[in-house]
Amino acid sequence: MTAAPARPRLVTLSSVELADHLGEALDVYVAAMGYPPGTARQRRNLWLEHTRRAGWRCAGWMDPGGHLIGIAYGYSGGPGQWWFEEVRRGLAARGAARDPAQPDWLHDYFELTELHVRPDAQGSRLGEGMLRALLDGVRHRMVLLSTPEYAPRAPGRAWRLYRRLGFEDVLRDHRFTGDSRPFAVLGRTLPLPPPPDRG
Ligand SMILES: CC(C)(COP(=O)(O)OP(=O)(O)OC[C@H]1O[C@@H](n2cnc3c(N)ncnc32)[C@H](O)[C@@H]1OP(=O)(O)O)[C@@H](O)C(=O)NCCC(=O)NCCS
Repeated sequence: MTAAPARPRLVTLSSVELADHLGEALDVYVAAMGYPPGTARQRRNLWLEHTRRAGWRCAGWMDPGGHLIGIAYGYSGGPGQWWFEEVRRGLAARGAARDPAQPDWLHDYFELTELHVRPDAQGSRLGEGMLRALLDGVRHRMVLLSTPEYAPRAPGRAWRLYRRLGFEDVLRDHRFTGDSRPFAVLGRTLPLPPPPDRG
């Protein structure tokens, strides 16, 4: 009888553990997003700075050799943060802040900052498992994220995952300062509904 192939392990990481695995985590990010390798170096300090923000939490998948093949993190969003101010500007420009039919998206939210699975491990619902683990027990009313409107490396995959989990449009074709690509900002209330029984 042959042994079943070892499965990756879903883990939560402390800030110290992420710092220990930062090179691997950034490699997953760069490969998943199809960014040039130099991007990893540029992002190191930002990712470390994020670990010190209120509400920061991190989840990942580790292969049997103890190497990260998936990484996700986020923190409590709020005024004064670059992302908050950029989204507030986008909402104000569209008059959304004055539209009573719109939820108050920027009140009491968790920002899902990063969610990536190494390309050779995608397609097995690792992304969903990691997202669920990350958001489990988050004490905010909403979760918000931004994602490129067009992903050259894995088109549509993030979108299918977010739509499947009930994320709605907060902003479309939004331009963050310093980035010429259009982004969507998506959000939904917490907690997430339980996963469907796939058995
Ligand atoms: C988004 C991401 C984290 C999802 O993780 P995942 O483990 O691949 O998630 P899933 O297996 O649930 O796949 C999500 C969707 O992509 C599809 N998909 C994934 N891999 C695929 C492949 N190799 N071929 C075709 N479709 C694929 C799945 O079928 C699923 O669509 P469905 O909901 O219609 O079934 C991962 O694809 C990724 O890292 N993408 C690149 C980075 C990125 O865009 N991150 C988000 C930035 S905000």
